[in-house]
Amino acid sequence: EPVPRAELLAGVAGTRGLLCLLSDRIDREVLDAAGPDLKVISTLSVGFDHLDLEEIKKRGIRVGYTPDVLTDATAELSVALLLSACRRLPEAAEQVKSGGWTTWKPLWMCGYGLSDSTVGIIGLGRIGQAVARRLKPFGVRKFLYTGSGPKPESAAEFGAEFVPLTRLAEESDFVVVTCALTPATQGMCNKDFFGRMKKTSVFINTSRGAVVNQEDLYDALAQGQIAAAGLDVTTPEPLPTDHPLLSLKNCVILPHIGSATYATRNTMAVLAANNLLAGLRGEPMPHELKL
Ligand code: NDP
Ligand code: DGY
Repeated sequence: EPVPRAELLAGVAGTRGLLCLLSDRIDREVLDAAGPDLKVISTLSVGFDHLDLEEIKKRGIRVGYTPDVLTDATAELSVALLLSACRRLPEAAEQVKSGGWTTWKPLWMCGYGLSDSTVGIIGLGRIGQAVARRLKPFGVRKFLYTGSGPKPESAAEFGAEFVPLTRLAEESDFVVVTCALTPATQGMCNKDFFGRMKKTSVFINTSRGAVVNQEDLYDALAQGQIAAAGLDVTTPEPLPTDHPLLSLKNCVILPHIGSATYATRNTMAVLAANNLLAGLRGEPMPHELKL
């Protein structure tokens, strides 16, 4: 279980190293509570939007994180979520349980498939590329991507085209969000973005909840502006059980389980521990975040 905030603030006092989770906000309050001896922070995550990097850098504290080792698991979950949303798996499974399955009907429970589709990836980083690699054999016709600039080397494998966000929204049959949460990406998928998407398109987010304006997503799904969504990340986490998004049949929501395979979590834990130990010893870390 994560350490409750009050316990963290009390327990961190005088420590030299801190191993934290993505749910721990490491801000000025925690850093002040830790005091000047804190030399290293190791997070059990690849995402680092929960760390106040400016303040951490100012204090000369080193940061370790867990890239690469969770890429495959997260990409796999992204594909599972995409297929669940576009082929309506939770809704269909529910029909079997509730007796809604009366007979085989030609148009019942139809969804959208990947064959001959255009897939738009927001953030063609480690996970974005691993998602594209897994989706390609489904018969995707065209990959589009967006980011802070073109990445011809990464894009070549998929023949992916770098496009502005607006064009990605307009032309993609599937949008998959795999970027980091930054001031530039916060709220990036908003009313304008969903308004440009096709009525038949499916939106998937496995990055961070705050990249999406959830009210705008709700409106787009409820009004049939887009076909379906799959979210592994939300704002807040956990999402309250009475949240409007949970009332929608065309929205599949998972509890932030992108990297949740036993093997991956174990590897992440070992890496995070080794980052911490290396930092404490003043040695190079297996994966240090360049500040
Ligand atoms: P990478 O750093 O490899 O990729 C991040 C990508 O974000 C880069 O390709 C970067 O593109 C892109 N990006 C940055 N700014 C923008 C922008 N303005 N518009 C579009 N794209 C942008 O990280 P990973 O692939 O390893 O991880 C990505 C994120 O996935 C993590 O930060 C984390 O938040 C999330 N994650 C979620 C998991 C889950 O359980 N659901 C599991 C693991 C990670 P560029 O290089 O062009 O700037
Ligand atoms: C991360 O590592 O950033 C994920 O969100 C959880 O593995």
